[in-house]
Amino acid sequence: MTKPLIIITGASSGIGAGLAQAFSKAGYPLGLLARNLTAMEALNLPNTRCVETDVTDIDQVKAAIQKAEEHFGPTECLINNAGFGKGGDFTEVSHQDHQTMIEVNILCGH
Ligand SMILES: NC(=O)c1ccc[n+]([C@@H]2O[C@H](COP(=O)([O-])OP(=O)(O)OC[C@H]3O[C@@H](n4cnc5c(N)ncnc54)[C@H](OP(=O)(O)O)[C@@H]3O)[C@@H](O)[C@H]2O)c1
Repeated sequence: MTKPLIIITGASSGIGAGLAQAFSKAGYPLGLLARNLTAMEALNLPNTRCVETDVTDIDQVKAAIQKAEEHFGPTECLINNAGFGKGGDFTEVSHQDHQTMIEVNILCGH
C-alpha cells in the first residue's frame, strides 16, 4: 500500500534532515521545506519534493505544501520543525533576533 505524505519544515539540516532520512527509509513520500534548497536536494531522497520556503511567509508555506500534495496526495502529517534560536541574556539578544524567534518558532506564517 502506498504510504501517505509527510511534510517536514526545516529539513535542510539537523533534526529535520534526520527525520527526512528516517521517514524516507520507512517508505514515506516527503515534502521538504526550508530556505536552503541545495541542502535538501543533497539528501537525495526518493519520492521527495524539496521546496525552497521561508516559513514566516504563509503563502510560501501553502504553495509548497500544495506542490507536494499534487505529487503525493493529501498530507498525513506535518512536522513543524523549522526553528531559530539565539541564546543569552534576554536584554542582550537583539530585538531583531527576538522577532525572528517569534516569527519562525511560534507564528510560522500565521
Ligand atoms: N537541537 C536541539 O538540541 C534542540 C533542542 C530543543 C529544540 N530544538 C528545536 O528543534 C528544531 C530543529 O533543531 P535543529 O537543532 O535541527 O536546528 P538546525 O540544524 O539549526 O535547523 C533548523 C532548521 O530550521 C530551518 N529554518 C530556520 N529558519 C527558517 C525559515 N525562516 N524558513 C524555513 N526554514 C527555516 C533551517 O533551514 P534554512 O536555514 O535552510 O531555512 C534548518 O533546516 C528547532 O525548531 C529547534 O528549536 C532543538
